[in-house]
Amino acid sequence: MKVQILENYKEMSRAAADIFADVINSKKDCVLGLATGDTPIGMYECLVEDYKAGKVDFASVKSVNLDEYYPITPDNDQSYRYFMNYHLFDKVNINKANTYVPDGQASDPVSSCEAYEKNIDALGGIDIQVLGIGRNGHIGFNEPDGELIFYTHVTDLTADTIEANSRFFESESDVPKQAVTMGIESIFKARKIVVLASGEGKAEAVKRMLCGKLTTNCPASLLRLHPDVTLICDKDAAILL
Ligand code: PGA
Repeated sequence: MKVQILENYKEMSRAAADIFADVINSKKDCVLGLATGDTPIGMYECLVEDYKAGKVDFASVKSVNLDEYYPITPDNDQSYRYFMNYHLFDKVNINKANTYVPDGQASDPVSSCEAYEKNIDALGGIDIQVLGIGRNGHIGFNEPDGELIFYTHVTDLTADTIEANSRFFESESDVPKQAVTMGIESIFKARKIVVLASGEGKAEAVKRMLCGKLTTNCPASLLRLHPDVTLICDKDAAILL
């Protein structure tokens, strides 16, 4: 894994956006693997700036998102579809029909997960995937466990993740208890992966990812097996390295 430690969140976001812009500029119809959460917001802001400055064009770009709560409706302001529209899709010239987020209200979530996975392959696979890292070492909603699931699936959220995400909801009891998430192999199929981490709250997870045991109890540690992963973090997230 390549590691870049930058001064602060702003520099981290710009460095990540530059990598994404390079991929888009070298392949107009590339497939971006996108993530939600606080961490990538700065990167999306930089990409919107680049778009407005005429440096990057999303007209032919396609995207697939890592995960979505289940159940949730797309118009719920805590849904990941809403997040993506708000932070990126509504601000650039991407064709929304080419943006895919797992269906948070599928009546048959198992079939919906299978279709999601097939769609990733039908699009030709993900050219570049951005990931945040959970305080508990999760990636997407692949939570620490004795075993992990390969492909897109429905999963129960851990108490730690529900607590961490409750800051976005009125109360902890409003956080959905399940999610649809790409699996470890769905993520590994991406040709290039960029992991972002910012702030001291992520320092322990970053240390475990890079230096700890290779274990499903820290899903991010498995990323050390992928041939093209770059961790971009700020100094605070790297404080324990
Ligand atoms: P965050 O979430 O970017 O909001 O910290 C990251 C994650 O939990 O994967």
